[in-house]
Amino acid sequence: MRIVEYPHPALLRPTVELKQIDADLRRDVAEMFDLMYEARGVGLAANQVALPYRLLVMNLDVDGFAKEAEEVFINPKIVARAGSIEDEEGCLSFPGLSVKIRRARDVTIEAVNGKGELVQIQATGLASRAWQHEIDHLDGKVFVERFGQLARLAHRRDVDRFEQRFRRAQKEGRIPPSAEIEQALDLLRARMTDSPSA
Ligand code: CO
Repeated sequence: MRIVEYPHPALLRPTVELKQIDADLRRDVAEMFDLMYEARGVGLAANQVALPYRLLVMNLDVDGFAKEAEEVFINPKIVARAGSIEDEEGCLSFPGLSVKIRRARDVTIEAVNGKGELVQIQATGLASRAWQHEIDHLDGKVFVERFGQLARLAHRRDVDRFEQRFRRAQKEGRIPPSAEIEQALDLLRARMTDSPSA
């Protein structure tokens, strides 16, 4: 497992809802936390590690990344937003890029937590920004789509560079062709959505 970078196909399509977190997914979740800490991020969406599921991990204890602050959520959705605020934002799928982005100041989220309980969360500040960023990922949206006009102009080159780097890696065989990636993603999606057969 590794964090995929833009424009990996897993980042560009909405994820599928999950019924529960089974043993396989728990192992994936543990690996996601490790990768997130390595990259010094506060949140990571499953499709950022090429798992097309509506699941994310978060640890908002930015100083210590304490184990107790680890949170995993499935099927999250924003049910209310208030206010508006601009702040710097980065993305583990665009390493090194930091951009000022306007988002809602406060959000209310509904999600199923790691214990299988439906929870409602009020978030503000960093938490609010992280939630909006990660839920965008799960909806198949990268933060470029939230850039304002100025940021879009100022960072066009940076975004192009990610695209060029990805295509070059595919050309050189370090990343599989997109059709092959799409096929693998379809299999993973089907695993979660197919009803069990007799
Ligand atoms: Co991101």
